Amino acid sequence: KKSEAWSARFSEPVSDLVKRYTASVFFDNRLAQVDIQGSLAHAEMLAHQGIISAADYAEIQRGMAQIKGEIDAGKFEWLLDLEDVHLNVEKRLTELVGDAGKRLHTGRSRNDQVATDIRLYMRGAVDDIIGLLRELRSALLDLAEQHADTILPGFTHMQVAQPITFGHHVLAYVEMFGRDAERMADARKRINRLPLGAAALAGTTFPIDRLRVAETLGFDDVCRNSLDAVSDRDFAIEFCASAALVMTHISRMSEELVIWMSPRVGFIDIADRFCTGSSIMPQKKNPDVPELARGKTGRVNGHLISLLTLMKGQPLAYNKDNQEDKEPLFDTVDTLTDTLRIFADMARGISVKPEAMRAAALQGYATATDLADYLVKKGLPFRDAHEAVAHAVRTCVDRGCDLADLSLDELRAFSSLVGEDVFEVLTLEGSVAARDHIGGTAPNQVRAAIAHIRNELK
Ligand code: ARG
Repeated sequence: KKSEAWSARFSEPVSDLVKRYTASVFFDNRLAQVDIQGSLAHAEMLAHQGIISAADYAEIQRGMAQIKGEIDAGKFEWLLDLEDVHLNVEKRLTELVGDAGKRLHTGRSRNDQVATDIRLYMRGAVDDIIGLLRELRSALLDLAEQHADTILPGFTHMQVAQPITFGHHVLAYVEMFGRDAERMADARKRINRLPLGAAALAGTTFPIDRLRVAETLGFDDVCRNSLDAVSDRDFAIEFCASAALVMTHISRMSEELVIWMSPRVGFIDIADRFCTGSSIMPQKKNPDVPELARGKTGRVNGHLISLLTLMKGQPLAYNKDNQEDKEPLFDTVDTLTDTLRIFADMARGISVKPEAMRAAALQGYATATDLADYLVKKGLPFRDAHEAVAHAVRTCVDRGCDLADLSLDELRAFSSLVGEDVFEVLTLEGSVAARDHIGGTAPNQVRAAIAHIRNELK
């Protein structure tokens, strides 16, 4: 059986290996629904412009409705011989409605067709992802609210730095995912433009109405240059870059969850439904979901590099290289979508152990900065205060005690400015409550931030 789509030009059929090598139907058939949507809009415009008859358009509609049904029911037969989703659907349409089906491709090429399909598909994917980011943020806001007062050590260089509230820590991720949602919404603006009408590369001789098709399909505008329209994949790269950032944030969070759940740290537990055991060690409960998410970040980052590399050497306009955009793109969408869905759910399955957090915050002289600030408020220049407290910490390290364990007299040995009121600033509660400004870790600031973001999410 020889290849049908362009056979007259060819004296022999392609080999089976080449057929398999060049075919995309087994992965691009996920574009079937948007392919049909695009074709119907194109056909409507052709009829409106008198390029095909109203009767042909009606036949195309009838055929496409049936094809849709066959695909939904899993009864559509995808043929490798027909290379890709576009030719498979068109061929079936012609089987069903004859010449009207053969007229559908008037004034169109698979080059502008596939670019349109991907944009329609991506628009839907981005909308889903923005919705999922919102769900994740709202789950994290609830967690932050429950722990607006819970104190844990904040770290820099993985060394105890200053006490912070757990709610504040969680809100840091809420900020990151908020920026991610903004980036997705921004990428959507450039996704949502119509390439159709560019035809193969130069436009078409038929009196088409591109703006009409754009409006039917809900695009904000048409791509303004036909060469660019068929060869541009910037929008896919931008999406992958935004996706890589989302996964990078997920991965940083995962790393913290894994550390926090380690028995050596013991800050949190994650609900059993997100963990698995070991086939050999009966005691194990492993944080598989965050570990896997950290791992999958590598693959999403890789897809971004794949697409950038795919595009860097392509002359204008369309080249078959572009068919390679789909698998990385689809896998990015799938990985990101699943990950966000699981994380929104898992955020509600995190139980916090405030005693363990508190115990850790009491080690490592987390309130040393507070003592220095105290001395500054009594009139000492900051650099001198820093030095005085460093001596105090040094003494505590030698003795194996905390700053608050030193007596008033002992503290006064480091600076005569120390008074009775010093012990308030050495407490964890005093330390966090004192950082009371926009963006600070004080519990009331955490509550204000939560209210602010909730209001934005409305
Ligand atoms: N399957 C192709 C792709 O994904 C469709 C466009 C093919 N165009 C062509 N002239 N061979 O890019």
